[in-house]
Amino acid sequence: MNSLDHVVVAQSVDDFFRIHEPNINLIILPRDENNAVKKFFEEIHKRFANQNTSSYFYECFPDDIFKPRLDHHFQDVRNLEGCEEAVNDLTCLADSFRKISRRNQRYHQMYIDLALLGEVNDTPAFHTDKVELRLICTYLGRGTEWVSNDNVNRESLTNGEDINSRIRDQSKIYQIKPFWVALMKGELYVGNRGREIIHRSPNLGDKDLSRVRYRITSTPSNYK
Ligand SMILES: [Fe+2]
Repeated sequence: MNSLDHVVVAQSVDDFFRIHEPNINLIILPRDENNAVKKFFEEIHKRFANQNTSSYFYECFPDDIFKPRLDHHFQDVRNLEGCEEAVNDLTCLADSFRKISRRNQRYHQMYIDLALLGEVNDTPAFHTDKVELRLICTYLGRGTEWVSNDNVNRESLTNGEDINSRIRDQSKIYQIKPFWVALMKGELYVGNRGREIIHRSPNLGDKDLSRVRYRITSTPSNYK
């Protein structure tokens, strides 16, 4: 990936604040895979995922309920290697996101979901998200794909139109790796209309169908 003026490759979560810069719509934090955490999520997936999509959804407002809910949910697997580290990582990312989204007081509706995705590969279509901010980390399986702003022809693009046909160069599709964190700016972020990051779920083909995807989303408090 050449350097792009709308993407920040972060050194740490401290750089997530840069998502508020007007021209930035994606922050990527590269991280090494943690073997213990990966094994933990493999085990969680084996135990709890259905053949179809299975998703644990947490509404996180007020926001102090996430850790207790996670502890409760993982009570039967607490002794597995990697559990503590996994919970720490999930809660640290939630804390970071909370601080970033709270910088502007308007952002106070926050949702978290940890999804165990099974053998369903929804046809991935490029799209923008109707959110203010969204953080995604795929712990297991392939990660989100995205394209640079200049690889999309947005001219007279209408709402709901197929964006796939607007990609200029299909060979320049980037992918977020497992354990990397992506922080994306969406349609509902004030002033970002028409400058959202364009992305899609990974194209899985017929392998690597198991995924564990963690997602944190903020929307305006009056948005349903
Ligand atoms: Fe999306």
